[in-house]
Amino acid sequence: MYVCLCHGVTDRQIRIAAANGCTTLEDLGALTGTGTGCGGCAQVAEAILGEAAVRPAAARALPLPMFAQAA
Ligand code: FES
Repeated sequence: MYVCLCHGVTDRQIRIAAANGCTTLEDLGALTGTGTGCGGCAQVAEAILGEAAVRPAAARALPLPMFAQAA
């Protein structure tokens, strides 16, 4: 889904940025423009960055909750 309408940035793009070391909204803004327009996306973008930081790559590879619990 689109998170930042001002710059056309999706949640997937934010997760990819996080996987490549982006940890702050400032970094994300420099990389994608997210949060640098109206700012309406900032809270959601930060939440996605935070979620990506706490969920290791192995957990993200198991998209169905039942598989994540089994792992
Ligand atoms: Fe992201 Fe406006 S929606 S800066």
